[in-house]
Amino acid sequence: MTVGIDDIAIYIPRLFLDARDFAEARGMDPDKLQRGLGISKMAIVDTNQDPACMAANACLRIMQRDNMSPKDIGRLYVATESSLDESKAMNSYVIGMLEQVYGEGSFEHCGGIECKFACVSGSYALYDNSNWIRAGEADEKSAIVVVSDIAKYDLGSSGEYTQGAGAVAMLVNDKPRLLEFDPKVTSTSIKNEYDFYRPFGKETPIVHGQYSNLLYLIQVKKALMAYKEKALATGLIKPKEGETILDHIDFLNMHLPYSNMGKKALAYLLRHEWRKLPRWKKIIEKIGMEEPTPKDPRGTIESVLADTDFMTKDHEFTKKFTKTEEFQETYDAKLSSSLIASQMIGNLYTASLYLGLRSSLEFEFQKGTNLEGKRVGFGSYGSGSSAMVFSGVILPRYKEIVKDMNLEAEIGNRVKLSLEEYEEIHENKRSPQENFLESKKEFILVDVENAPESRGERRYVYNG
Ligand code: COA
Repeated sequence: MTVGIDDIAIYIPRLFLDARDFAEARGMDPDKLQRGLGISKMAIVDTNQDPACMAANACLRIMQRDNMSPKDIGRLYVATESSLDESKAMNSYVIGMLEQVYGEGSFEHCGGIECKFACVSGSYALYDNSNWIRAGEADEKSAIVVVSDIAKYDLGSSGEYTQGAGAVAMLVNDKPRLLEFDPKVTSTSIKNEYDFYRPFGKETPIVHGQYSNLLYLIQVKKALMAYKEKALATGLIKPKEGETILDHIDFLNMHLPYSNMGKKALAYLLRHEWRKLPRWKKIIEKIGMEEPTPKDPRGTIESVLADTDFMTKDHEFTKKFTKTEEFQETYDAKLSSSLIASQMIGNLYTASLYLGLRSSLEFEFQKGTNLEGKRVGFGSYGSGSSAMVFSGVILPRYKEIVKDMNLEAEIGNRVKLSLEEYEEIHENKRSPQENFLESKKEFILVDVENAPESRGERRYVYNG
């Protein structure tokens, strides 16, 4: 049975912070952000926007574009780590907003929950909704999975330059035009960790950035190994002598807390897969040094990070590896297009991976690549921590969707914030009414109740 993504819509706030302005204001070298991390702009929410209204805006876009009515939708799941309530699920807010347009009670048949597992929960939501369809429960209806987040870190912290905001809605059904999921290969890894977390009541996360980066790589590699076993066992991928499964994945989409993390992940996974192959000998000759190993190869992440001699050599090795023709060719062909949107928008937590998919479709299409039949691999990671690796194949009707993709037009006219304006938003110094931008044809937040009996109730309107 075919199940997959039929269409994909984005909602990105129009306010942005320029990475160069930001770096100069914080006394940093702008090259660290632009070249070192791959960040040129960070999308910032206006005072009258929150993760729920971004999610509702993305859902409305996909429904309007595909002429869908609420009766065509059987499930609406929201995956986020920017939860607004400890109990009330974000999809209830989203349905409340959509019913302002489609009529009260129009979504009453539509089940769903809010899913949480840092940045990976959107992938679990997609998997669960695909299985709802595979189980024959969908009754010809589609599911909408919407991923929506505001990546917000403390002022002056090292996470502050990896912020961003936005939502991606995906229509999932049994007649997809865009991408069909490969069956029986989805694989996960999970471990109790504190690399990045946000305790109750705290607006910004506690982050151990370098630890989290390494954990991301290890967890995704473990999930990839499990995927590989399944892909070989089911015969989905049949590598020839001297090949790896990665040779059979045409495009890779990685979770992108910042765009260059995709490149780091690709280098890590290729090293892991290529070092057993004949091609590695030639690459090692080009690099001109042996691949370093930590003093304690079976040690903890802390012991590896504390092994400064290994970390320095490994960093040097990775840099040299990423300059080889073999890496560059793979990077250009499989990954580079997926990183463009992240450079323009920043971190979207749950939505980063799917903004990457959107980016690779749009920019590969612009290059004139024939995408039909190409396999897309997904490396999803959520702190705390879990990874999920899965894949899908681009379907013959993909052009119907991809031909109209235009990231800049879909974001609309972007407005640059000054550092002072950004800090006012960041520190919640303005009310929803003190917004920067006029909004049209979208949902906005108008009020959050403060009275004891209604504290936290949020009111939204559709600005038609
Ligand atoms: N010019 C060019 N590049 C520069 C530079 C300069 N002047 N200064 C530094 N760089 C490069 C570094 O070499 C490094 O690249 P490399 O690793 O490829 O060598 C990169 O910029 C980042 O520098 P680094 O010192 O490692 O950055 P940092 O200590 O400021 O931390 C993060 C970066 C990403 C770890 C930090 O921003 C963070 O924790 N962000 C949050 C991440 C997150 O959300 N994780 C959640 C789970 S995925």
